[in-house]
Amino acid sequence: MILIVDFGSQVTQLIARRIRELNVYCEIIPWDEDIISAISLKKAKAIVLSGGPDSTRMKKSPTISKKVFKFNIPLLGICYGHQLICKLLGGKISETEKREFGKTIIRRNTKNHSAILENLFKKNIEEVWMSHGDAVTELPKGFLELASSDTSPFSVIGDTVRKIYGVQFHPEVFHTINGKKFLENFVNIANIKRNWTPNKITDDLVAELKSYIGDRKVICALSGGVDSTVTALLLHKAIKKNLTCIFVDNGLLRKQEAAQIEYLFKKNFKINLISVKGKQLFLKNLKGVSDPEKKRKIIGKLFIRIFEKEAKKLRNVSFLAQGTLYPDVIESTSVHGKAAATIKSHHNVGGLPKKMKLTLVEPLKTLFKDEVRKIGSELKLDNSFLNRHPFPGPGLAIRCPGEITAKKLSLLREADYIFVEQLKKHNLYNNVWQALAILLPVKSVGVMGDARTHEYSCVLRAVSSTDGMTADFSYFNREFLAETSNKIINEVKGINRILFDITSKPPGTIEWE
Ligand code: XMP
Repeated sequence: MILIVDFGSQVTQLIARRIRELNVYCEIIPWDEDIISAISLKKAKAIVLSGGPDSTRMKKSPTISKKVFKFNIPLLGICYGHQLICKLLGGKISETEKREFGKTIIRRNTKNHSAILENLFKKNIEEVWMSHGDAVTELPKGFLELASSDTSPFSVIGDTVRKIYGVQFHPEVFHTINGKKFLENFVNIANIKRNWTPNKITDDLVAELKSYIGDRKVICALSGGVDSTVTALLLHKAIKKNLTCIFVDNGLLRKQEAAQIEYLFKKNFKINLISVKGKQLFLKNLKGVSDPEKKRKIIGKLFIRIFEKEAKKLRNVSFLAQGTLYPDVIESTSVHGKAAATIKSHHNVGGLPKKMKLTLVEPLKTLFKDEVRKIGSELKLDNSFLNRHPFPGPGLAIRCPGEITAKKLSLLREADYIFVEQLKKHNLYNNVWQALAILLPVKSVGVMGDARTHEYSCVLRAVSSTDGMTADFSYFNREFLAETSNKIINEVKGINRILFDITSKPPGTIEWE
């Protein structure tokens, strides 16, 4: 595996994604954890140091122990990581007169050769994406300048004997045209086998679950989405009858969802399933609450209360399994140090109570959604599950800003249903990663049939994405939008205005809360 040390860059997760796309397993570790022990423990075959917002010239800037160079394993520094390698090995970093941001052309130094440049610089240049104020101005001993830009001399450097490399640009971002090739060259230099395939991941996960759980009992929180379904299938493969799935109808689900999930699950699998009706409990506890984080935490606590109650009935249950994904962990806990921003408490990570009777099992915790879909396909999961749009655990609660009421939920449920059915009817459902409706706590004046209306506004949002970490809003033609808007206003009494969300992520998130 490759260990990625995170210095707080907004795009560290993309390094992990790009490396995994090369079928190599990697993990992200924050810079202030014990990197040296992690290298040995995880048997890392190479290390990547990420970018970050700090300057290595500052006294208390993030750093790592120089012991990292003693392992004699290949190292790649990106942006801040590139400067840190130089600083630790005796080079010099200075503030540049001209900062480099965005698209930049770098030129190869044709006198120096290195495997990191293999099949790159076809016309002696590469288009890359930069984002830095400081730059390396003196190389440490043993390093060669491999490429430079008009503004800074050391855009790619390498100590080809010790296999330590640095790039001032970001190879992980889409805008660096051949970024993945740079990473592939690094993987090849490290001589790492590219065998992280869905088939291998599935076998490894099942074997791990088998040995970790043994003959103890597990309940699995089932939402009907691809993540929890794949979690259930993996567990079923590993522990068979000792697994019971629990599905909670919390009153925050979409139209017909509870019935659909129960039907699909019972039809497709022979796994024990318990359905719990919790609508009243959830609505009662959410009454009067408008703060998004409070909503998420209340829902998380109630879920756990129900799971613990069901576990007690089943007797001797040791574990609660959840379909938590890597992005949930990254966004809920923040990889950069302790103080950086938590975006939101995903109900199954940051929203859980501190004291829990059951131990968590989260086999998908280091995977991205597209990887989970591949495992699902490997496990022969039906397309009706695989292609379902993601739906968050806190459900419609986080699509209903402000206080939640049964009336608002019912308006939202109807609008959401019409929007999704429209997408299916126009063969657009599989073109978007996720589509949702949001009911605003705002009423506006309208005119219908010569009469005045004063009703709620509803936002439609659809995005394209590969993993939910970044997303772009989807584009629909006027006819589709007009037909959908008309349909919702005509059929949902209580909504008289439709808006379309044109915010990408970042700066917006996909859900509104
Ligand atoms: P955001 O809104 O953070 O969402 O851009 C990214 C993806 O995650 C889903 N999401 C959740 N899924 N529990 C979940 O299981 C949650 O608490 C949660 N919050 C957001 C969201 O629907 C989108 O696909």
